[in-house]
This record gives sequence, structure tokens and C-alpha cells, in this order.
Amino acid sequence: MKLIAFECREDELAAFEKYAALLDVQIECRAECLLPENIDETGGYDAVSMLGRSCMNSAMMEGLAARGVRFVCGRTVGYDHVDVAAARRCGIRVSHSSYSPEGVSDFTLMLMLMSLRKYKQALFRGNVNDYSLEGLRGRQMQSMTIGVVGGGRIGRAVIRKLGGFGPRVLVYDPHPSAELRATAECVGLETLFVQSDIITLHTPLTDATRHMIDRQALAMMKHGVIVINTARGELIDTQAMIEALEDGKIGALGLDVIEQEEGVYHRDRRTDIIKNRNMAYVRQFPNVIMTPHCAFYTDEAVEEMVGGAVQAAVDFARKGETPLEVRG
Ligand code: COI
Repeated sequence: MKLIAFECREDELAAFEKYAALLDVQIECRAECLLPENIDETGGYDAVSMLGRSCMNSAMMEGLAARGVRFVCGRTVGYDHVDVAAARRCGIRVSHSSYSPEGVSDFTLMLMLMSLRKYKQALFRGNVNDYSLEGLRGRQMQSMTIGVVGGGRIGRAVIRKLGGFGPRVLVYDPHPSAELRATAECVGLETLFVQSDIITLHTPLTDATRHMIDRQALAMMKHGVIVINTARGELIDTQAMIEALEDGKIGALGLDVIEQEEGVYHRDRRTDIIKNRNMAYVRQFPNVIMTPHCAFYTDEAVEEMVGGAVQAAVDFARKGETPLEVRG
């Protein structure tokens, strides 16, 4: 089995080495994205692995199949950047990562607490010896109604962790399981928007969920609502969110992701001109906390992302087995 991995960060290399030895896979690691320009690099490999920035459209699937690639094993959660239907047509099997939800769910609760307790202001003020209390009065988790959008692994981990704080928890999922029903109040999306003090997004990005937080959704929400997004930037219509922030409707916003973050996040862009105006504008609001898509980034997750991708390729090849979380 030969696998070529793209978008490899330095911190993934040890895990690639470990799983190459453990699973007897020949692995070539490349820092660059997989793009039409370098698709020839994949010739002679059975499997390709990538994060979320490579081009995985229909033409690329045809190109990969023509070069003998049979498996595409993503190291991120979801298929929002992969044309799975095209892969299927080309006979390529696709997997995505199913690393532990603990890191992202921990981070989500951290953003909720930071937002509720106005931590950004407290931290910034302390740095200039301003120790005033004005404007820092927060609210307590226990008195909140928290709406979790998406009852998958991350949404369920968030609900489990919220249990320790004692809020009322609502959850919206289009196909709620019995397990989910037992852990939180399953409600429709509109009810969740109307009743929640804090709304947190844990749903994949699809055509149906793109801009699910739009003007109409924002209009339904409570004045002072807190919105947290550790999933995908495109779930929120940023322009509509900016208007809601300017109108004072939003109590706080915690964003680990934002529309058009590609090419900005996960890079040092200190001396560059960055053209994402919305990103720069949203960041300056006193009640907005933004982090650079790092909720996933833990020792444990990095190991699992790499290990899961290599294992998926091995399962596909060796036994025709279907690894966990495979659709293609
Ligand atoms: C994912 O795994 O889906 C992520 O969002 C993390 C990715 C940017 C490396």
C-alpha cells in the first residue's frame, strides 16, 4: 500500500512515521495542497490523504482515477470540500476523519464561558492596567438556555459537558436518535433559535446548512444572544451577522471559523496585506472572540487524524472493509 499525503504540517510527521511502521504503509508526506498543477505526483500511489484546502472536485477525481489512485482518505471531519459523487463515479472510495470530539467540545465550552464572562475585555484591560469592573458583568451558565445545532459526535459531547453546569439544553438534529432524545430537549430549529440564550453550531456544511444563520434566523433570536461557531465559517452569513452586531442584537460571538478563512488561517500573515474585510471588521468588536480554526488542535486529535486516514486506506485495500464514517 502506497499513500501520498498532502497539506502535511510538521507536527503531523511523527504520527505519519508511526502509522507507516505500524500498518506497513509506504507514506510520502508533502506540505503543499493537492491541486491540478501537481496531480501527477499521485501517479503510482493507491491512496491520497489531505486536509481541507486541496482541490477535490470532479476533474481532480477523474485525474486521480486515471493515475491509479483508488482511495481518498481525508484527515478532516466531513466532506464539504470533496466531490463524493464524482469520486463514486470514478470508482474512488472516500473516507473522512472521525477523531475524538473531546477537543472541539472542550473548546466550545471555553468560548461559551469566555463570551459569558466578557473575558476578551477583562484580558485586554488588564494589559493596560485598567482594572475597572464597568461592562464586565457576566451571566452564569446555569441560568442559560443553550441550543446545540447538530446532534452528532461533537454536539453530543458538548451536551454531555454542559451537564456539569446545569443549563437547560435544547438540541436540533434532523434525525434525532433515541440516545440524543435522552440527553437534551429535541426541538425544531426555529424553536431553538427563538428560545436559546447561547446557540452553538455543530453541523456539517452542506447546501442545506450553508448560511443557516442568516438575517431571518438572526431576527428570530433573543436580544443579547451568544453565538458560537467551531464548525464551518459558511454556516453563518457573515454580512448578516455584522449587521446584527452593529445593531447591538448580538450579546457575544465566539468564532473559531469564518467565511473565506482559506489562505489566512494556519499561516503567519503578519506582514501581508489580507483581503478578507469581514474578518478584520468582525474581529474588532469588543464582544467578538476569534480564534484561527484551532479548536481541533490537540495532541490527541492530530494523532487520530493521521492514524484514522492511514487506517482507512489499509481497510479499504486489505479487506474491502468500510472504515468508520465512510460514505463514498
Ligand atoms: C476538521 O477536522 O474538520 C477541522 O475543522 C480541522 C481542520 C482544519 C484541520
